[in-house]
Amino acid sequence: MATILPFSSSRFIVFSILSLSSLILITGDDHGFARILDMKTLGLKKEKLSHFRIFWHDILTGKSPSAIQVVPPVANSSTAFGLMRMIDNPLTQGPKLSSKLVGRAQGFYMSASQQEIGLLMAMNFAFMEGKYNGSTITVLGRNTVFSTVREMPVIGGTGAFRFARGYVQARTSKFDQYSGDATVEYDCYVLHY
Ligand SMILES: *[C@@H]1O[C@H](CO)[C@@H](O)[C@H](O)[C@H]1NC(C)=O
Ligand SMILES: *[C@@H]1O[C@H](CO)[C@@H](O)[C@H](O)[C@H]1NC(C)=O
Repeated sequence: MATILPFSSSRFIVFSILSLSSLILITGDDHGFARILDMKTLGLKKEKLSHFRIFWHDILTGKSPSAIQVVPPVANSSTAFGLMRMIDNPLTQGPKLSSKLVGRAQGFYMSASQQEIGLLMAMNFAFMEGKYNGSTITVLGRNTVFSTVREMPVIGGTGAFRFARGYVQARTSKFDQYSGDATVEYDCYVLHY
């Protein structure tokens, strides 16, 4: 809907635009398409460190699996090299699947090592809780699943996690060797604004 501005306010807007562009000219960063912004214009204040402890459930069996094989491993690989599973794994507050759902881990993992079980993880943690609802962090890294602690980088984020960087530490809390179902504790350390 178009709104006709009174003369004085449109003149004010023109004045503001002019003074903004002269400000850019003064700082010498006007390349037509690029400029330097004050961080406050995006509402970015102080960088903070957040810690999240969540549980990631990889459900391969049962009525509604959350991790589905989309590419089989190469033949005769003892490390399931080449295997790819797409995941939409529940993230809960406690170790039990029935505990409060705080988000979902969506993405995939692939078996990327021929010497040991080593996965390439690529996933977004999509949070659904409180002020983090709708915000995401992106985890991309190497996961040697039989190591006690696996560290993976947090390479970015959206919403509350814009400009995020950090790391996660994954520890297996439960693993069923027959079904392959696993519950993994994720300790996430994230710098964001
Ligand atoms: C896999 O192993 C079986 C049994 O050892 C063998 O017969 C087959 O040729 C192997 N396949 C490949 C692709 O190496
Ligand atoms: C999260 O946001 C969605 C979409 O805005 C909304 O439907 C849902 O109720 C919210 N969940 C929580 C727990 O606040």
